[in-house]
Amino acid sequence: MLDIVNLESLEALARERLDPMLFDYIAGGAGDEWTLRENREAFSRVQLLPRMLRGVGLRDQRTTVLGTRVSFPVLVPPMGFHGLCHTDAELATARGAASVGTIFVASTVSNRSLEAIAEASTGPRWFQLYVYRDRAITRELVDRAAAAGYSALCLTVDTPLAGQRERDRRNRLRMPAHLGLENFPAAHAERHKSGNENESSLARYIADMWDANLTWDDVDWLRSVSPLPVIIKGVLAPDDAALAVEHGAAAVIASNHGGRQLDGVPAPITVLPHIVDAVQGRVEVLLDGGVRRGIDVLKALALGARAVLVGRPVLWGLTLDGESGVVAVLEHLRAEIDLAMALAGCRALNEIDASLVISW
Ligand code: FNR
Ligand code: LAC
Repeated sequence: MLDIVNLESLEALARERLDPMLFDYIAGGAGDEWTLRENREAFSRVQLLPRMLRGVGLRDQRTTVLGTRVSFPVLVPPMGFHGLCHTDAELATARGAASVGTIFVASTVSNRSLEAIAEASTGPRWFQLYVYRDRAITRELVDRAAAAGYSALCLTVDTPLAGQRERDRRNRLRMPAHLGLENFPAAHAERHKSGNENESSLARYIADMWDANLTWDDVDWLRSVSPLPVIIKGVLAPDDAALAVEHGAAAVIASNHGGRQLDGVPAPITVLPHIVDAVQGRVEVLLDGGVRRGIDVLKALALGARAVLVGRPVLWGLTLDGESGVVAVLEHLRAEIDLAMALAGCRALNEIDASLVISW
């Protein structure tokens, strides 16, 4: 088992194992990486006000997300290309999430097919959708996700184009030749390994393939073609959260894509209270970006999130020790949440409320 003191320290260990170009792709953000740093720093500006003498000998982290039972309030967000980290790729990550009892969100740009992921893991799964200009491709993904037993579609709305990822531009990012994009025919996958001389092949792939013309009408379209609930991922403006609800979203994920898209935007934890206000309890609000510690999870829940998603540390765990590395990362976070709950005077997640964060 990976010996973990805290999740931040895993990045340096994973860096030693990975090709620098691939490490940069995973770790990096857009532009000056201000938002990437802010995702961490904003958590440090939220302060907890613990309560004492509340009999915290037994603590319980169980909850539900969109009606699905999870053993703790942390999910694995959609991330592309787990094959960069480990030969078992998404199969290992999905198994790891299942074995700790939480939801795995499979990315459209997974190295393994959504069917193979479904076969490998018995746990709850959502499918993250990128909408292709070719709607036949999109339609097929949507239908396959339902057929393979995914219980929700997670529509990512913050990526009409790839962000200005300067590490990838400098490195002339190319995905390794042996990796497929197994949701698609082989010929399609070849595209993400080519690219013009000066640019990242992923940026080119996204510009060529994904539909930058997406609007709220497409959310209606998606709902009309699929029986699955649609979760909108990548909302920061409270008005967008309200629009998501009006267009029938089952949940929203406050997210800036881990600082990888528009630099200069606030951290999700900063906008969370406003998003929670805007949706007025009509849907569950989730959050990702910079969650690295148990206390971050308490802060997000206190400010109204139903649960959070933790991204890069899961990929570092996958890099370092495959499926069991993923388990170690998630179990470490569970233990940190447990300790933080005890010290804050909370026995169950419903006791983590607004009174736990300082507002004076
Ligand atoms: C991502 N993210 C992402 N999001 C998405 O909707 N579809 C995707 O395919 C990807 N791919 C992806 C790859 C890599 C390498 C990273 C690091 C991230 C964004 C992801 O879902 C999530 O929003 C962030 O990773 C959360 O931030 P932290 O926890 O990594 O700080
Ligand atoms: C990324 C894309 C795949 O963040 O969403 O790299």
